[in-house]
Amino acid sequence: MLTLDPKDLEPRAFYSYLTGTVAPRPIAFVSSTDKHGNINLSPFSFFNIMGINPPILVFAPNNRGRDGSKKDTALNIAEVPEVVINMVDFAMVQQMSLASIEYPRGINEFIKAGFTPEPSILVTPPRVKESPAQFECKVLEVREIGTMNLYICQIIMAHFAEDIIGENGKIDQRKTNWVARMGADWYAHISEGAMFEVEKPNTKIGIGYDAIPESIRLSKILTGNHLGQLGNIEVLPDKTEVMAYRKTQTIKDIIEQSINGCAYLDNLLHDEARRLLEMNKVKEAWLVLLQSHNDFLGYNTR
Ligand SMILES: Cc1cc2nc3c(=O)[nH]c(=O)nc-3n(C[C@H](O)[C@H](O)[C@H](O)COP(=O)(O)O)c2cc1C
Repeated sequence: MLTLDPKDLEPRAFYSYLTGTVAPRPIAFVSSTDKHGNINLSPFSFFNIMGINPPILVFAPNNRGRDGSKKDTALNIAEVPEVVINMVDFAMVQQMSLASIEYPRGINEFIKAGFTPEPSILVTPPRVKESPAQFECKVLEVREIGTMNLYICQIIMAHFAEDIIGENGKIDQRKTNWVARMGADWYAHISEGAMFEVEKPNTKIGIGYDAIPESIRLSKILTGNHLGQLGNIEVLPDKTEVMAYRKTQTIKDIIEQSINGCAYLDNLLHDEARRLLEMNKVKEAWLVLLQSHNDFLGYNTR
């Protein structure tokens, strides 16, 4: 492990370890206005959702590295405490990057980066028409710590493009193409091929990793992810189910293969369980694994 005490490094040097590891970060593309109505648009990846009731987003422009001055977004919010936080998808990423150039105050990055301003309903700053999700926010609070200005914003109106909404009226994650910021110049494109589902454990009480028999836990074939899936089952299959499963062709074939001396029974069972777990068939995986763990359950099926 590389162990670092932040005090021993220049803040910018430590920051590079943070952005490379606290990643990927969503990008708030923030439009704001000064008291004269001049518009500003800038991206910030120190950003996330923090509250549900009321819905809260937070983001944090830091003061400029070169002279410690506040960024235009921060100066604008001091005058007009409202923003629109526009989400960034792949189609917008290069123009969004262009908008991050530190143009002088008063320069409208909608124009410099080629985005279309769309009037908001409840706040003064305009929305970015090209963005598939736009949140009109009032800024509730600012917390200044060192060079950070952390804005706590309440969403008071939200807009979502029809083409990211599924049949149930909710956001269909497969229709989105968000981009996120990583370390250095790296970004992540969160498209369908990069996504996967993990069954929520909080609706049930899984048996837990520690309740998995040691010979499964120490498997050379099953990984930590597989064991996490196995520990998420509420109750192990009972003896009748395990015995019934023994009659399936898959298990018969596995047993025959092991009798013929081609491989250890456990390895064959673990291989099959891994295959099932990768299809998220957790109960079936247990039924396979328990063919070798009848003693653990007090079964006597032999
Ligand atoms: C994807 C991306 C994310 C960024 N995130 C931040 C951030 O979280 N905080 C920050 O201070 N600057 C961040 N920046 C740099 C600002 O966008 C940049 O300093 C911008 O010019 C500030 O604009 P303003 O002075 O008009 O507010 C980011 C830049 C990019 C391209």
